[in-house]
Amino acid sequence: MTNAQERPVAHRPEIDRPSPDSKPGKRLFIQTYGCQANVYDSDRMADMLAPHGYALAAAPDDADLVILNTCHIREKATEKVYSELGRLRAHKERRAGEGTATTIVVAGCVAQAEGGEIMRREKAVDFVVGPQAFHRLPELIAQTARANGERLAAEFAPAAKFDALPAPTADGVSAFVAVQEGCDKFCSFCVVPYTRGAEYSRPMADIVREVEGLLAQGVREVTLLGQNVNAWHGVDATGAESRFAALLERLARLDGLARLRYTTSHPLEMGDDLIALHGGEPKLMPYLHLPVQSGSTRILKAMNRRHTAEDYLVIVEKLRAARPDIALSSDFIVGFPGESEKDFEDTLALIAAAQISSAYSFRYSRRPGTPAAAMHGQVPDDVAAERLQRLQALVAQQQAAFNAAQVDRVLPVLVAGPGRRPGQMHGRSPYLQGVHFEGGHAGQAGRIVNVRIAAATPHSLSGHLV
Ligand code: SAH
Ligand code: SF4
Ligand code: F3S
Repeated sequence: MTNAQERPVAHRPEIDRPSPDSKPGKRLFIQTYGCQANVYDSDRMADMLAPHGYALAAAPDDADLVILNTCHIREKATEKVYSELGRLRAHKERRAGEGTATTIVVAGCVAQAEGGEIMRREKAVDFVVGPQAFHRLPELIAQTARANGERLAAEFAPAAKFDALPAPTADGVSAFVAVQEGCDKFCSFCVVPYTRGAEYSRPMADIVREVEGLLAQGVREVTLLGQNVNAWHGVDATGAESRFAALLERLARLDGLARLRYTTSHPLEMGDDLIALHGGEPKLMPYLHLPVQSGSTRILKAMNRRHTAEDYLVIVEKLRAARPDIALSSDFIVGFPGESEKDFEDTLALIAAAQISSAYSFRYSRRPGTPAAAMHGQVPDDVAAERLQRLQALVAQQQAAFNAAQVDRVLPVLVAGPGRRPGQMHGRSPYLQGVHFEGGHAGQAGRIVNVRIAAATPHSLSGHLV
């Protein structure tokens, strides 16, 4: 996943789809927390509920059905769910007073991890549904009127889920496609193997069909998603065993597809075939999110990452040999149990040595049920906070330098749509930087145009159409 932010995202009310059949006027509000996988899942929930008469609402106030798609990754993310549920209870009571029913559903990783507790603590919740069972939403919603309706759907059924989901509706020139789910890595700090279940790879033929469907709707850029996306494996049309690089090669052959990306990768799965593809496949963009978590091999061992800091730097070196301009982003945890000042300095050294140009970084959060929660040497909050600040300052400096290095270059920009100012357009560089530019027009959406970069800020670029 590109990241795991705790900031909730009201689920794209602009794609307010008219309901093709029955009971018009039912309103659905989805609040999404967490990573790209959850954003993708929320889109699928909306796609699935549209034929049942649900159109997306802009706010929870006028919604008949509210779904919180939750994240369990850090304590703060989980706490937000309970405070939001308190607000929703008031909303449900108010509407009940007006004679209107409201269905409240908790989906996502908190639902999976503490579904029983949610049902006990918050009576306003009609049912909870885990990330590998949400294809059953229509059936579960239909049951809510019954006293004996199912309250907790938490089975791991990724194959049945993907089979049941309708073909995705595209929204713009870029789309995400889930190709892999779950995780077998069991890093000692992480809840994902428990919330998303075991690693599962979607069949290649299904992925190709989904991408073709998106291309037919005008999509030009596809980002393949998975908790360990580069662990994907399957069989091709001839029945031959395929690794992730073969999937990328297959998709790159599709006409109309201009750009291919993937996230999130694990260093252990960064095989030489995949690294070589970064040098040989022009549709594969020169940007890679490759979380390392720490630059101290001692801490990596305690994290059960199963690679050393040196292993990571060797992968980076090979990637740069294959694709010299590749931009690297990563994830870091500071204040993992036992982390010393020296361990932390090793992390700063790795960030510099690998020339990381963007990163998501987090203070370690103790998660119930994970091995690290029981480890000695929990780092005091103030120490972790100070380290996080230093790490973020270094990354910000490298990110600013990376962006500044683009000034005066001509970059191919995939145009997404109008920019902030009238007459301005915006899109993305190959390195995933946002680019605002003058001299373009709305008809260029979906095209790749050359933009001369005139200025850089720490977070974006601007320029003029060549
Ligand atoms: N599968 C992905 C990441 C999933 S979670 C991977 O292996 O990289 C996204 C990020 O959240 C992780 O990379 C990690 O940096 C962070 N994270 C996970 N558990 C955490 C915890 N207990 N405390 C703080 N950050 C955590
Ligand atoms: Fe969590 Fe590690 Fe799996 Fe990533 S690889 S999801 S950090 S257990
Ligand atoms: Fe959060 Fe689940 Fe993603 S815990 S980071 S929503 S996989």
